[in-house]
Amino acid sequence: MKTVVLSLGGSVLLPSIDSNAISPYIAVLRRIGENVSLYVVVGGGGEARRYISAARSLGIDQAACDEIGIHITRLNAMLLVSALGDAAYPVVAADQTRAMEYGLSKKIVVMGGVTPGQTTDAVAAVLAERTGAAILVNATSVDGIYSADPKTNPDARRFDEMTPDELVQIVEKDSLSAGANMVIDMVAAKIVRRSSIPLAVLDGRDPGNLEAALTGGYFRGTLVQGGGESPLPLYPPPQKR
Ligand code: UTP
Repeated sequence: MKTVVLSLGGSVLLPSIDSNAISPYIAVLRRIGENVSLYVVVGGGGEARRYISAARSLGIDQAACDEIGIHITRLNAMLLVSALGDAAYPVVAADQTRAMEYGLSKKIVVMGGVTPGQTTDAVAAVLAERTGAAILVNATSVDGIYSADPKTNPDARRFDEMTPDELVQIVEKDSLSAGANMVIDMVAAKIVRRSSIPLAVLDGRDPGNLEAALTGGYFRGTLVQGGGESPLPLYPPPQKR
C-alpha cells in the first residue's frame, strides 16, 4: 500500500469551534484509509489564531504562543480521531516517530503540531519524508499556489504544476511581504525539495477535491514535482453505485 500524508488545515476542518466542518470529511478519509496508508496532520484553524492573539495581547513570548497553538492543533486532532472511530489509531501521535509506530496498526494515524517555530505543514513534510510517502497533500482554504497574492494582485495566476525549485522561490518571495499568508511554510517547501516529495496543494474546503486528487480525477489545485511520472492516481476511483 502506498503512503499518503495529508496536511489538513485547521482553517478547512475547524474555521471555528462553532462552525466545525469535520463531518463531511469522515466518510472521505475512511475511504482513502482503505486504499492507502493514511497519516493526517491537523492544523490549528480559527481557535488557534484566537488563542495566539489573546496570548500576544498579554505580552506572552512567541515560543509560548506557539506552544498554545500546538495544544489547539492536538485538540483538533483528537476531535478528528474520535470522529473517525475504529478507522483511526485511538491516540494522537505526539511526534513523527510515534506516528510511524501507530502506523503499524494499519489504521489512519492523526497528529497535530510538534515543536515551536513552524506550522503543521512542516510537521507533515517531515512525516512524509520519514514514511517515504508517495505524495504529501496540503488541503487548505485556497485553491493552489499563485504567482502572487490573488487577493491584492489581479494579475496573479494559479499554477496547475510547478517544480520544487519554483515552489521554494515563490515561498521565499511571499515571506518577504509583511503579513503574507503563505499557502505552505518555508520549512515544508525545502523538505519537499530536498527529498523530491510530490506535493499536491488543493482546496480542501471541498472534501471531494481531496478524493479526486488521489484517484486521478480533476482537482483544482497545484501539483509540485520535479519531473518524471506523476504519482497520481494512487488508486482507482470508487465505483459509482
Ligand atoms: P497551524 O499549522 O494550523 O498554522 O498551526 P495555521 O497557519 O493556523 O494553519 P491553518 O489555518 O490551520 O491551516 C497553528 C499554530 O500553532 C503553532 C504555530 O504558532 C502555528 O501558527 N505550531 C503548530 C507550532 O508552533 N509548531 C507546530 O509544529 C505546529
